[in-house]
Amino acid sequence: MTILGIETSCDETGAAIVQKDPRSSTLKIRKNILATSLDMHAKTGGIIPENAAREQLKLIIPVIKEAIEGIDPKRDIDAIAVTFGPGLIGSLLVGVETARTLSYIWNKPLIPVNHLYGHIYANFIENSTILLPALALVVSGGHTDLVLLKTHKDIKVIGSTRDDAAGEAFDKIGRLLELPYPAGPIISKLAEEGDPSSYRFPRPMIGSKDFNFSFSGLKTAVLYEVKKTKKLTSTQKKNICASTEQAIVDVLVRKTLKAAKKYEVKSILMGGGVAANNKLRESLKQKTKEQLPNAKFFAPAKELCTDNAAMIAATAFYRNTQVPWQIIKADPASYY
Ligand code: KG4
Ligand code: ZN
Repeated sequence: MTILGIETSCDETGAAIVQKDPRSSTLKIRKNILATSLDMHAKTGGIIPENAAREQLKLIIPVIKEAIEGIDPKRDIDAIAVTFGPGLIGSLLVGVETARTLSYIWNKPLIPVNHLYGHIYANFIENSTILLPALALVVSGGHTDLVLLKTHKDIKVIGSTRDDAAGEAFDKIGRLLELPYPAGPIISKLAEEGDPSSYRFPRPMIGSKDFNFSFSGLKTAVLYEVKKTKKLTSTQKKNICASTEQAIVDVLVRKTLKAAKKYEVKSILMGGGVAANNKLRESLKQKTKEQLPNAKFFAPAKELCTDNAAMIAATAFYRNTQVPWQIIKADPASYY
């Protein structure tokens, strides 16, 4: 079975070919092409949806062409999977309309995929050892969710953010520190040379009974700190980065472990751009080992944490709901 995946929910244009190895049942990536309009958004300090959609239009055909190079799509592809939401409507429409057209002209089944499931199923690429029930921490620019997978058909959200997402917190704090967008990876890099205990930033909702999160208070605390100082020295900046990262990681790790214990899961998964963060990966791995000896920790390769099309194709192997090309619809506000 071979699936062409298409991802255009935000500022990345992706097309990938993913195959299931018939002997081992492992999902293998044959091609994973990604073009990004990130440089352009760095200049504007964030994403202007209209610009992102125009870039998607420019990139989608060359990206798909590169993904299917060397194969005959009519013969070799079994289905087309495409992100239908959540995301920016203009960007989503580019992928959905392209997938719809290809489904019609190649006469292939069309599988709409929710982008958030994509972040979870990135864990299943090149990995057939994940046992259920599993708990997934989805941490992206727009979402911070704890998702319980009892089976591939029984999936529910047990907690999410009340305000800013973890990635959004990184990006907004980055703006306060005059760092380019997206600031998550830059804060993480600067944090390596900073002292995480130099500023005692709040860990909102870390002790709450539920599995929800809140990150807007952290952003406000950093704002006060930045306002106190006329011009931050490079050391101060690095220390703020390290202390911010530590606060976010502490909350995410504590709540994930608490939920994993309650639901007695066998696997802990991560997904979304923030899952590429080294400190978060290391910390969750270490604490799982110490506190949950019966559970295994998994994280996708870093390039599969941020948006990509391989995760969309991979999801379609597990959540294979086909729709006729006539009725597929982009849904910018869809959830799990
Ligand atoms: O999943 P993603 O690529 O796009 C969305 O679906 O939102 O996530 C992007 C988010 C951005 O907020 C970015 O700052 C953050 O992921 N991010 C990171 C790292 N790499 C990306 N945050 C912290 N550390 C990183 N290494
Ligand atoms: Zn994403």
